[in-house]
Amino acid sequence: MAPKHHGLTRALLSTILFLQPVLSVPGIGTLLPRASPPSSISTSLSTSISTPTPSVSMSSLATATTCNGHAEYCTRSYSNITFVGSHDSPFVGPLPQQNQNIDVTAQLDMGIRYLQAQTHHSVFDKNVLELCHTSCFLEDAGTLKAFLETVKKWLDANPNEIVTLLLTNGDSVAISEFGDTFSSSGINSYTYTPSASPLSLSDWPTLGEMISSGKRLVVFLDYGADTTKVNYILDEFTYYFETPYGVTDAKFSSCKIDRPSDASATGRMYIVNHFLDVDILGVLIPDRDKADSTNAATGEGSIE
Ligand SMILES: *[C@@H]1O[C@H](CO)[C@@H](O)[C@H](O)[C@H]1NC(C)=O
Repeated sequence: MAPKHHGLTRALLSTILFLQPVLSVPGIGTLLPRASPPSSISTSLSTSISTPTPSVSMSSLATATTCNGHAEYCTRSYSNITFVGSHDSPFVGPLPQQNQNIDVTAQLDMGIRYLQAQTHHSVFDKNVLELCHTSCFLEDAGTLKAFLETVKKWLDANPNEIVTLLLTNGDSVAISEFGDTFSSSGINSYTYTPSASPLSLSDWPTLGEMISSGKRLVVFLDYGADTTKVNYILDEFTYYFETPYGVTDAKFSSCKIDRPSDASATGRMYIVNHFLDVDILGVLIPDRDKADSTNAATGEGSIE
């Protein structure tokens, strides 16, 4: 399914998490950030990558003809694809602590392929992981299990699509609890486990290989991942750097490395936090009024 950028503009708020794992050649459907990273970063990224060595021969697979909406993505490495994501994807509604206008299924239907979400322990049951924004008293979007079931249902219905989850672990919950929640939702049948830990940038499989293997969900956690215990929940900052978040500059002029601090871009994919906030008396909230330009494919402040 091809991303529909004009639809995105209207339906999603200014909270698009824009992801561009490596600098890619502007191609059909390939979205590039408006501001390119400094040339030193792009140089180190592009020179650090060699041609990916597929771990599975394409000829032995039932080859997908379309991968994430494009035939040419089938032979591209996961680490060489730009995915458009949504920040705080489950927090849907008009309130200041909410970030999106449409629910997760509608986001996926519109072309979002990277869902970020915050997790916390439920205030009612400490054994349950809940999707809450900072605090479950402020915003509680239901259980992580229900969210994973929703994503699983979408993957079931869309067999040629790869989706990535980026979860945060604000309460330092044990990784086994995440593993248990993934298992109970059934979505662990789709989770991708790298052949090495960590997997180097050049060793990621192609989208075609991932689709053929059925392992179409890539999962990252910001803190507390331990692949010796749950092998498919990957440590975000081993694989990525992020640009600053909470941006209030509508031109998104900075692409500097924010996290991990002092990280090198070499060997990492990257996350561009292309969601715009507005400062209301010291509190940053989504800049809904600018969503049309922030989420646009082209123009000032867009994801171009
Ligand atoms: C990324 O994909 C583009 C387009 O297919 C290709 O030209 C480029 O060589 C790829 N880069 C890497 C590092 O594989």
